[in-house]
Amino acid sequence: MAKGDHARFLKTFLKNPSSTGAVAPSSEALSKAMVRGIEMGGEDLVVEFGPGTGPFTKAIQEILPSPEQYLGIERDPEFVSLLRARFPDLALIEGSAEEAHLHVETHRSDTGHTGRVKAVISGLPFASLPDPVQKGILQSLLDLLPAGAEFRTFQYVHAYGLPKAVRFRKRMREIFGPVTVSGPIFWNLPPALVLTWSAGTD
Ligand SMILES: C[S@@+](CC[C@H](N)C(=O)[O-])C[C@H]1O[C@@H](n2cnc3c(N)ncnc32)[C@H](O)[C@@H]1O
Repeated sequence: MAKGDHARFLKTFLKNPSSTGAVAPSSEALSKAMVRGIEMGGEDLVVEFGPGTGPFTKAIQEILPSPEQYLGIERDPEFVSLLRARFPDLALIEGSAEEAHLHVETHRSDTGHTGRVKAVISGLPFASLPDPVQKGILQSLLDLLPAGAEFRTFQYVHAYGLPKAVRFRKRMREIFGPVTVSGPIFWNLPPALVLTWSAGTD
C-alpha cells in the first residue's frame, strides 16, 4: 500500500462515512482473496465497484490478460484522480455503481471490447449505503451479470450478524441464490470474509 493511503482514506471517511464505509483501505491479504480462483479468458471483462485507493485494483491487475479487460467505477472524485495516476492503463469511470450496466456499455463502445463480464469485484460498503442506492446497485448488477459470472464482495467478521449485513445477504440470495463464504481473512483491519455469488444459468 502506498504511503499516505491510510490518511487519505480516513479523510474521505470523515467527509462521507456511509459511502466510504471503512476507516482504512483493505489489506493485500484480503485483496488477493477477492480475486482467488478467478480465471480470466482473453476476452473476459472484470468490473470493480468502489476501488477507493486501489488495493483490489492492484490484485485484479495481476490476473488481467490485458488492461482493457478492466473497468473501475468509483464515486469519489479524489479517489478517481489517485487511481488514474496509479493505474494509467486501466479504465476508471467517476460515477455510481447504480449505473454500472450503462458504464459497461459506454466502455464497450469506447474500446470496442465485446467480451462478457466474467466477474464484478465490489469494495462497496453495502450495509451502510442508503437503501435506494443499494437496491439500484443490485438492479444494475442483475442487468450486468451473464449466466455463470461471479459477484464478490466482503463483510467484516464483527459485523456479519448485524441486521443490515444479514438483510443484504438475504436480498442477494433472493436474486442470485446461495452464497459461498470464505474463511476469515485475519490479516485485515478489521478481519473480513469474502462472499461470492454466481449468476444462475439461463
Ligand atoms: C469501503 S471503501 C473500499 C475501498 C477499496 N475497495 C478497499 O477495499 O480499500 C468503499 C468505496 O466505495 C466507493 N463508493 C461508495 N458508494 C459508491 C457507489 N454508489 N458507486 C461507486 N463507488 C462507490 C467509496 O467512495 C469508497 O471508495
